[in-house]
Amino acid sequence: MHLFRNSNPKALFAPLALAVAAVLSPGKGEAGMIDKDGMEPWEICGMCHSLDGISPMAKFPKLAGQRAAYIEKQFRDIHEGRRTNDGGQMQAIVTEVDPDDLPSIASYFAALPAPPPTAPGEDTTSHAEDLFNEGGDDTPACLTCHGSTSSDVPLAPWLEAQHEEYLEKQLTEFKQGDRTNDLDGVMRSIAARLSEKEIADLASYIAAQPRPERSP
Ligand code: HEC
Ligand code: HEC
Repeated sequence: MHLFRNSNPKALFAPLALAVAAVLSPGKGEAGMIDKDGMEPWEICGMCHSLDGISPMAKFPKLAGQRAAYIEKQFRDIHEGRRTNDGGQMQAIVTEVDPDDLPSIASYFAALPAPPPTAPGEDTTSHAEDLFNEGGDDTPACLTCHGSTSSDVPLAPWLEAQHEEYLEKQLTEFKQGDRTNDLDGVMRSIAARLSEKEIADLASYIAAQPRPERSP
């Protein structure tokens, strides 16, 4: 049975929802709980992140058009306990996936069309736009890393059109030291210099930006 090719998305959702609920129920997190016979390896991810990679719920980041190498890094970081700010949800899933399938899962999501931006929020400020594009008094422009594929800058994800709440959560958790898988603390040191208001404004601004075409 190829669930992914099933024409009715609701029919796809129901059995996967049950399977994921089973895995997430307390004390049942061990590997092998989900019968994945005949499933494409990314279908289990689609349960939360959507098969088109554009999750409707802000607690699940959009993966469509994200850099494959970034998807793989986050997956491995969660698997190996370096990233722990996922509310335990990804942690419950990573053991269900054969690590050999990770490259094809990451390429699947990376190849999907990028999400459309959200409607601009009322609190979008020109200060947030400046911080993002030009940098602030003591923060570099976000685009220096988040708009670049140069090997001279750390591997950073595309941010435009991501869920506003997700962006705000990540920035706040970098600032508070609850997310610590950024190499050399690069994001922790930047987020520490942003105020809560700047973080909220940046999240709102970035979510409303269209994602430019870039090489992976
Ligand atoms: C039960 C729900 C659930 C399932 C199933 C799931 N994830 Fe997630 N995933 C999450 C949550 C929740 C987060 C966000 C954690 C946070 O708030 O920091 C996340 C975060 C991520 C991130 C980080 C994205 C970013 O922009 O930082 C990646 C990559 C990811 N998931 C990949 C996957 C892959 C690949 C699969 C399938 C093997 C998968 N997820 C299955 C819930 C899920
Ligand atoms: C010097 C490079 C650099 C700069 C400048 C930078 N970042 Fe980052 N950022 C990174 C890296 C690297 C990561 C990924 C960390 C990891 O591997 O988990 C990241 C991750 C993030 C994330 C998490 C996204 C996700 O999908 O989970 C957010 C949000 C973020 N940065 C926002 C910003 C904002 C806003 C600015 C500007 C104020 C900024 N960054 C400036 C390097 C940078």
